[in-house]
Amino acid sequence: MIPGNGIGPEISEAVIKIFKAAKVPIEWETVEVAPIIENGKAVIPKPAYDSIMKTKIALKGPLMTPIGKGFMSLNLLLRKTFNLYANVRPCKSIPGYKTLYNNVDTVLIRENTEGEYSGIEHEVVKGVMQSIKLITYEASLRVARFAFEHAISTGRNHVTVVHKASIMKVSDGLFLKACDDAAKEYPQVTLERAVLDRVCLQIVQNPDIYAKTVMVMPNLYGDILSDMCAGLIGGLGLTPSGNIGKDASIFESVHGTAPDIAGKNLANPTALILSSCMMLSHMNLRDYAERISNATLSTIAEGKVLTGDLGGNSSTTEFTEAIIHNL
Ligand code: IPM
Ligand code: MN
Repeated sequence: MIPGNGIGPEISEAVIKIFKAAKVPIEWETVEVAPIIENGKAVIPKPAYDSIMKTKIALKGPLMTPIGKGFMSLNLLLRKTFNLYANVRPCKSIPGYKTLYNNVDTVLIRENTEGEYSGIEHEVVKGVMQSIKLITYEASLRVARFAFEHAISTGRNHVTVVHKASIMKVSDGLFLKACDDAAKEYPQVTLERAVLDRVCLQIVQNPDIYAKTVMVMPNLYGDILSDMCAGLIGGLGLTPSGNIGKDASIFESVHGTAPDIAGKNLANPTALILSSCMMLSHMNLRDYAERISNATLSTIAEGKVLTGDLGGNSSTTEFTEAIIHNL
């Protein structure tokens, strides 16, 4: 468990309480990930690194990310250090919780190690900055294969590659080629291409169009589109994610540290709870995952005990207790 910063410790505490109440057969090892700078670069503190290497699995709260300057976000550093190449971001309308849409059911796979997130940035000459978008065939093929596997295991059997190869001809062009090549290995799954701007338009007009596919895309597109999907179902308080690698996987909510409400017992822990359920499924503890996720979703559907972001006025602890009651 990496509790993280801001609202991280409060929402992590909620998960720990729920796991205890549900008698989930795991033991937590809690480690902090605070920035340690070595030779001008941020590194993951050794106890955290060793713990994740040992357990191969972590649940993590949000970590603060400096804006416009300073070291690389520790969130990214964890993804890079453990080579967590596929970021799985499902987003589903919660039955009974009213938003503009009731039919959102998207699954987005974000390439998680490169693109604009490579951290290769410099000043070319004064007044000219360059941030490199790095796309490799190897990483693209790896995440494309993951998307196809995911399409099969979720029964969707359809993959949509989201791109902008009309403009990013060589980098997105290579990403498309990797998807085409992966498609040949999975003849039972169909592959479709969709340009990012059109996907944005269609998804807010009729999310149904993307409810039966697995979307796969380069890093930054996935970052932006996943927040947009979260907006369709009621906000970032509700959306989980899994950063999947070969040797380790880290589960976390899509949201940030929410410093404005940190330490006030106001945060909605749902996103981290649902991330913990993804983690349990990944560990083959599906029954526990289902029980906890059902209890969480029905608490929201009942609408009696809700945090502020969902239109209620209950605290994090009251909401957590209500979930435990519903287990
Ligand atoms: C996310 C976040 C991160 C990202 C930040 C915190 C570095 O927004 O997980 O989507 O941009 O990937
Ligand atoms: Mn984001």
